[in-house]
Amino acid sequence: MLLDIYVYPHPILLKKAEPVTVFDESLARLVEDMAETMYAGLGVGLAAPQIGRSIRLFIVDTSTPEEPARLKAYVNPKIILKDKPVIWNEGCLSLPGLYRDVSTYAHVIIEAQDVHGEVFREEAHELQAVALLHEYRHLDGGVFIDRLPPLKRRMAQKFWSKHVHREAERVYGDLNIHCVFSDSEDKKK
Ligand code: CO
Repeated sequence: MLLDIYVYPHPILLKKAEPVTVFDESLARLVEDMAETMYAGLGVGLAAPQIGRSIRLFIVDTSTPEEPARLKAYVNPKIILKDKPVIWNEGCLSLPGLYRDVSTYAHVIIEAQDVHGEVFREEAHELQAVALLHEYRHLDGGVFIDRLPPLKRRMAQKFWSKHVHREAERVYGDLNIHCVFSDSEDKKK
């Protein structure tokens, strides 16, 4: 089932998400629906707050269309290590159509639970590391434009508040994805 995508600056994207405590069938189904939504939106990662659930869960699949899918869910993740600072051109399904060069890390070790509650560890490099950190930050209320230098960040926010609806419509219009905007954005429509 396709889920609605919550668009920045919806308040659910700006707050810290709660730990997952129940590993049941509905969690597995949520991950399936998130995957369907992420693939429909042509994203490589999607965090639960982006579909309106403030819980510590995200999914990532950085495989190319030619490769087999390597979808994975990360529940209650912890970043064990991040190094190799790098500048990366990031985008986000909650800021559709906006891409900016931001600072992040190209080497990450993450520990998380899978949908059954089993703990696993993963060491990641390059795009996979960048995607893991991008999604992880969503669980603490962060979006990638937070990592721009102050002036560029203000410019990006200004651009976004002006064009949020136009951009969301342009990107999601033909993809059958419904967007949820914050109340204040809705009033501007
Ligand atoms: Co994002």
